[in-house]
Amino acid sequence: MNTQNSFHFDDVIAQFRDAIEFVNRRIINRTEVIDQIFCALLTREHALIQSRTGAAKSLLAQQIFAMFEGARTFQVQASKEQQPDTYFGGLDIEELKQGRIIHNTKNSLVESEFGFIDEIFDANDYTLRALLTTLNERALILGVQVVPSRLHSVIAATNYLRVSEVTEAILDRFVFKSLFIPSKTAYVQYKIARRYLEHGGKHIQPARKIAYATLERVTRIVTGEDAELTIRVPLQMIFLANSVVRHFESQRNRLLKERPHDHPQLKDFYISPRTYAKSIDMLRASAFLHGRDEVTADDVAKLWYMHTTVGLHDQRELFQKSHDTILHQLGAARAFEQIQRMLEFQDFLDELHESPELLETPITGIEGSGIRRTLKDWAKETLGIADASVEHNRRLLEGYVRSFEPLTEEIQELRLRQEKDIHELFHPAVHIWA
Ligand SMILES: Nc1ncnc2c1ncn2[C@@H]1O[C@H](COP(=O)(O)OP(=O)(O)OP(=O)(O)O)[C@@H](O)[C@H]1O
Ligand SMILES: [Mg+2]
Repeated sequence: MNTQNSFHFDDVIAQFRDAIEFVNRRIINRTEVIDQIFCALLTREHALIQSRTGAAKSLLAQQIFAMFEGARTFQVQASKEQQPDTYFGGLDIEELKQGRIIHNTKNSLVESEFGFIDEIFDANDYTLRALLTTLNERALILGVQVVPSRLHSVIAATNYLRVSEVTEAILDRFVFKSLFIPSKTAYVQYKIARRYLEHGGKHIQPARKIAYATLERVTRIVTGEDAELTIRVPLQMIFLANSVVRHFESQRNRLLKERPHDHPQLKDFYISPRTYAKSIDMLRASAFLHGRDEVTADDVAKLWYMHTTVGLHDQRELFQKSHDTILHQLGAARAFEQIQRMLEFQDFLDELHESPELLETPITGIEGSGIRRTLKDWAKETLGIADASVEHNRRLLEGYVRSFEPLTEEIQELRLRQEKDIHELFHPAVHIWA
């Protein structure tokens, strides 16, 4: 991989892999959730861990944050009586005299990069709601006070799930969730005791820490915000990922309908559009940890970290099944090649929607990316026109989209959308305020 601006990709990847290994040595039998939380950090998301008492939730959060330097960690044990000032700082007395409620945010969650909130559902709903805004918007927004927050990721722990409107919103905000059931095997118990002899119940300091600035940079790369370094996401991988996640969502809902008593509190299984969109960051995080600068189908297989509750193995298996089913469907008979061509065509259609004046000239004449050449060749071969005149544009686009013979149902759906898109290009809806 490339080396730019003293950012050594391979060295940085090695730092993260070493850190993951280090945490795994201290905390036994938690490989999956450790991987998951690192993905949360790389994508600037929050993670929620649930387990019964004494299963190393606190230790895990502390050990992971101890792997970084140059970042503040805000730590709190939630309780019912607490007011928002526990999280956002005490009230400023001078402001209060003027009748304004302003929190002094110094050393609060707002001014920390990391947060560990223990027993999060013990907090009252009023405080949770304020907290939700900070997790969502990365700002303190309370009454008249608005302060941007430097918050990167929060790890929250809980022994139980409390169901109310606000806890549901909180659950949705934690894109990464896990539930672990402590192993009772002699081997695991021996190893835990062995670590206890060595370190007591405490987390340990690694010889080398990752600079927070490094994490921040990698996060920018993973979330596609870096000006220089990118991890390429081929269009067909986005299509594959969405298809797999959609298949998984429908399979879970089918199971819920068949066995409603398994999850009495769950009406349906819903993946929000936000989480769908976040999948792309997860794909890039996975590619990064694999040392690649391009997303592949292997990364799509890793999306279970985001779309299942890690620790629930039947969910993971179901996700894997969805992945295998879709990959098999698409992998057959050159479907990927077809998707690639159709998605390039989609980009072209989107461009035409944005600049309809392009339709006034022969579109095969537009210089630029591959799709135009393909379109031109196709026009020459099939319609026998070398330079389509203006009137030919519609025939050209319609003919081209019909030339795709969809190899799967998903592709069939995509083609229908594109036909509709083309229709709209030539019959633009009159804007209501126009
Ligand atoms: N998987 C494990 N690996 C290493 N140590 C463990 C493991 N599970 C438990 N321990 C030991 O148990 C202790 C208790 O863990 P910790 O306090 O982090 O649990 P917790 O899940 O936060 O509990 P609570 O729900 O009561 O807050 C740890 O300090 C550690 O010594
Ligand atoms: Mg604890």
